[in-house]
Amino acid sequence: MLFQPPLPSRYASLTEDEMAQAIVKRKEQLGSRLIILGHHYQQHEVIALADFTGDSLKLSQIGADQDEAEFIVFCGVHFMAESADILSNDNVKVILPDLSAGCSMADMADIDDLEEAWEFLDKECGVSVVPVTYVNSAASIKAFCGRQSGACCTSSNASAVLRWAFEQGDKVLFLPDQHLGRNTAYAMGVALDEMAVYDPRLPQGGLTAEQVRKSRVLLWKGHCSVHALFAPNQCDEIRRADPDCKILVHPECSWEVVQKADLAGSTEFIIKTVRESPAGSRWAIGTEVHLVDRLVHAHPDKAIRSLAGIQCLCTTMYRIDLKHLLWVLDELVEGRIVNQIQVDHATKEQARVALERMLANVSAEPVAIK
Ligand code: 13P
Ligand code: SF4
Repeated sequence: MLFQPPLPSRYASLTEDEMAQAIVKRKEQLGSRLIILGHHYQQHEVIALADFTGDSLKLSQIGADQDEAEFIVFCGVHFMAESADILSNDNVKVILPDLSAGCSMADMADIDDLEEAWEFLDKECGVSVVPVTYVNSAASIKAFCGRQSGACCTSSNASAVLRWAFEQGDKVLFLPDQHLGRNTAYAMGVALDEMAVYDPRLPQGGLTAEQVRKSRVLLWKGHCSVHALFAPNQCDEIRRADPDCKILVHPECSWEVVQKADLAGSTEFIIKTVRESPAGSRWAIGTEVHLVDRLVHAHPDKAIRSLAGIQCLCTTMYRIDLKHLLWVLDELVEGRIVNQIQVDHATKEQARVALERMLANVSAEPVAIK
């Protein structure tokens, strides 16, 4: 995790209204030089001030399309800001308001571990594998996939990218989210016993060469700590208490949860599904609490609740707040760029190959995993 220095003390005494008003003023001062992007898991106060909101895929596309803005302030987490830096043109500077906004899942895939895994698969097992990384990964992992003829995907297009990968070779290494990989491959007809989990903390990933040779999909042992909080018994409980309620979850949830759900898809898919459902519909949703809360407020004619009885909060997304947003904008108005996220040139070139394959496999609408 990167270190975020404390903000100047004057920010501590500002009220939320004062900060929101000051941010609006800074946006006017910076005009078309600035765009603010907000991921759906951001706090409501931050989302209210974003120019564009979206899931990881939509925000990557918006980042890639910028040719006017000079600054992208990314209200999301570190890997998203890196992707924006890789995909945007060279004049754009990408800023993450709080450097400690990382992602525990992205941290579960380390480039040295991946190089070691690759060597094992190639030398010991003699298999050729197409690497596919979820966009929730470091730029170095994306670059690896780019140079090894692989690709990135997001939860909105994981099926399309896996289909592409199976056209390139007969085995896929999917990282870092074992759940998105398993849920997507299973929905495409790959049986559970054709998938094996590669645990980077164990010698040879905890697998024999025979297990590797028999597998079609190797799943890196990583997960999202937020979506891991949803459990199959919560689905059973909803079914018992409210049989008309539909269960809609993000594919970062476990296979067992996705099997018990009615539908599974990315945050953009979740929003669209609820929006298009008739008045009076009932939904239990398995994703981050800020998105669920916003759906509750946006659709008072529908009964919406979290699938879990507890608050499933992404604590790193939560680090982006009005104080940090105002601080980076204050600095920009003064001509100083703070918290710029810059990927080095060589990594950028290779990672862009993987990200462009992701963007080439996008459908007009977010696709359900289930
Ligand atoms: P999407 O934005 O692809 O829905 O993924 C959710 C997530 O966990 C982002 O970190
Ligand atoms: Fe990472 Fe999960 Fe938070 Fe997304 S919700 S940023 S995958 S920890």
